[in-house]
Amino acid sequence: MVKVVVGLQWGDEGKGKLIDFLCRDMDIVARFQGGANAGHTVVWQGNEIAFHHIPSGIIHNHITGILGPGMVVDIPVLLDEIRYLKELGISVDGRLKIDWRTHVVRADHKEEDAKDKLVGTTKRGIGPAYRDKYGRKGLRIVDIFYPQYVDHLPKELLDHYIKYHDALSPYVCDTVQLLHDAINEGKSILAEGAQGTFLDVGFGTYPYVTASHTIAGGACIGLGISPKAITEVIGVFKAYTTRVGNGPLPTELEPELESSLRERGKEYGATTRRPRRCGWLDLYWLKFAVKLNGVDKLAITKLDVLTGLPEIKVAIGYKEELPFITDDAHPIYVSLKGWNTDIRGVKRYSELPLNAKRYLKFIEDTLEVPIKWISTGPERDAIILR
Ligand code: IMP
Repeated sequence: MVKVVVGLQWGDEGKGKLIDFLCRDMDIVARFQGGANAGHTVVWQGNEIAFHHIPSGIIHNHITGILGPGMVVDIPVLLDEIRYLKELGISVDGRLKIDWRTHVVRADHKEEDAKDKLVGTTKRGIGPAYRDKYGRKGLRIVDIFYPQYVDHLPKELLDHYIKYHDALSPYVCDTVQLLHDAINEGKSILAEGAQGTFLDVGFGTYPYVTASHTIAGGACIGLGISPKAITEVIGVFKAYTTRVGNGPLPTELEPELESSLRERGKEYGATTRRPRRCGWLDLYWLKFAVKLNGVDKLAITKLDVLTGLPEIKVAIGYKEELPFITDDAHPIYVSLKGWNTDIRGVKRYSELPLNAKRYLKFIEDTLEVPIKWISTGPERDAIILR
């Protein structure tokens, strides 16, 4: 059984928390794309842990965590992450696996990315690392282990990375074989997407996107598993919209409302701490995201952040018909009534105020997919399972 969890907006949908919840019934969690640009935050024993490379599910000590071949890994940052988890009492030894084929984000990739002015990247070297992968001059983990077989890189460059051989060696293996064996043995696998649908390099708001395929199809490419192996796709979205970095956000709020929502939702980037831009929920493009990913079940997060708003708007279409997302298009909004009852930490659907239920129903009716999980706060157990 392979479940894929993907973000349906511009990342930061709260995937980390849902994954943490789902992991209770999983054996393996595998990341299939991206690198240290991701920031999945989980609140664990009073500590707010931000995961960058390592799948957040690793905090459950029965879980094997995989960094799949579709990722790009910043080795010193990864080693720091492993150390940091150890200090918190979470040992990943024997449970963390990195694929041979995974590409390396090099220091020069980060230097180049630091000069980006257009996209507003996380400056983690992601774009240059993927460019070199596709340009056939990337450095892979396997190249550090078998330098004598490398034809495509200068020796000095390889020599610089060989120092990581010993530190990486406990973790490196063929994760494709591992996953195929697990599938055959009937184990439960969760493919953890990073970023979100509209940051996908092919289907997002190009060029204001990341450099990998963030949609569910990316799980096959990024893990080396067949599309036939995927049994369920879960789409996660926030009760409103946020994005960090540049690019269109047609439902962006006027400054006053935006900053009050940002404060209430603590909308600051987990990786870069940049303030996130905030907008109303865009059901028109969310519906497209549902289609692209083949979403079977939905999870909505941060519903509690909307409490106290007298009116909640949702975009259901655009005045202009344009085949891409642009700030030049004018959203058509439907206005729904808000609620005042504090719902933070609510664990039962029946305890939600009527207008919150109406909001959820409107979303389900428009997207034609059931909402199975409703997150009502940052705490691990602040979630309604329907
Ligand atoms: P890059 O992935 O660092 O190249 O950045 C490309 C775009 O994706 C920028 O707009 C980033 O802000 C955005 N981005 C990358 N990773 C994340 C994430 O985990 N959450 C939200 N936005 C992200």
